[in-house]
Amino acid sequence: MVWEYRIAGDSIKVHIGHGAFEELWKKEGNICFIVSKNVKNAHVKMFEKIAPSYIIEIEDGENSKTLNYYGNLIERLASENFERNRKVAYVGGGTTGDLVGFLSATYKRGLNLIGVPTTVLSMVDSSIGGKNGLNFKGVKNLIGTFKNPSEIVMDTSFIMGNNGMLYEAMGEIIKHGLMLDNSINELLMQNSMETIWQGNTIEKLIKLNVDAKMDICAKDPFETENIRNVLNFGHTVGHGIEAVSGNRISHGYAVMIGMKVESEIAKNLGYSNYDPCEIIDSIVLKYGVDIPELDRHMLKECGNYIKNDKKIRDGTLHIPVPLSPGRHRIIEIRASEFITEMERVGDNI
Ligand SMILES: NC(=O)c1ccc[n+]([C@@H]2O[C@H](COP(=O)([O-])OP(=O)(O)OC[C@H]3O[C@@H](n4cnc5c(N)ncnc54)[C@H](O)[C@@H]3O)[C@@H](O)[C@H]2O)c1
Repeated sequence: MVWEYRIAGDSIKVHIGHGAFEELWKKEGNICFIVSKNVKNAHVKMFEKIAPSYIIEIEDGENSKTLNYYGNLIERLASENFERNRKVAYVGGGTTGDLVGFLSATYKRGLNLIGVPTTVLSMVDSSIGGKNGLNFKGVKNLIGTFKNPSEIVMDTSFIMGNNGMLYEAMGEIIKHGLMLDNSINELLMQNSMETIWQGNTIEKLIKLNVDAKMDICAKDPFETENIRNVLNFGHTVGHGIEAVSGNRISHGYAVMIGMKVESEIAKNLGYSNYDPCEIIDSIVLKYGVDIPELDRHMLKECGNYIKNDKKIRDGTLHIPVPLSPGRHRIIEIRASEFITEMERVGDNI
């Protein structure tokens, strides 16, 4: 199925379904596919019929989001005299999307971009909203622009039955459910790890997430209105946990823990009397998400990390918290007060 969305005057077609990738390369003959090597190796058959001359293979992962990699790609396109009116499509997860998104925004001042996200996380999150980014000297996404693809092709063949990928995305999915659209978490609760892959349930889940994130991004296309801030729920503490655990706790799990801690803080300080932890815990239990053990000292260490959070303005954090299923508010809280309360929550873990 294909749906059309609009962000800042851009029209974005989103195609979700089994076989969507094949339809794309059959429909348009002249796309240059910039493909994650890992994805191509894991899904050899899906690339077999595309002429090799239309494919550029790249490494993925955080190390590929660098100026060096970007430079190599520019060199390759320039040496082939890649014309400005030709379309470029990324095929890979969020790191491939960020790298190729930036390339498409800058090579010859902009190429038409098609997104083919291949992880659950990139389908429900990073492929939407037009952000791209490169890391620089250890700082994540220090370089980047906004550029929406004209088309996003979410072929479920890339993710079918991959429970690990669903676990990685679960934090962001539950976040969308808690903050934007309760029917997302209802759908999760009506299903299990088995049934989610049956029929068209995974397509439905992805579509609900796409709707929710597109809606917020359309209201704040360039992240200037503090509206996209809602998407940061769980991320202030979550980023801290990722950092102090030396990435032992990955983003998806860290966000899940972060949502619980931030809700607890908001409740303890009287900003919200809603406790979403029960919803998070029931989904975690139902799907057997194995959240890594949180060292009780970790939240104390997170304080030092949060003190340097780029989102602090005049000593104040602007944190989104849920008020009831699908509803939220942004609270303003002194960073020092937030950190003290976070340490108290840590003591009780
Ligand atoms: N631009 C945005 O708005 C935005 C939002 C959130 C996150 N991000 C970025 O997204 C990145 C994380 O993305 P990710 O979690 O998708 O990770 P990723 O792109 O690094 O992919 C994770 C791993 O899965 C492999 N993989 C991808 N698709 C596969 C498939 N179908 N089958 C088998 N293996 C596959 C990759 O090779 C990689 O090893 C981070 O760099 C983050 O900064 C960007």
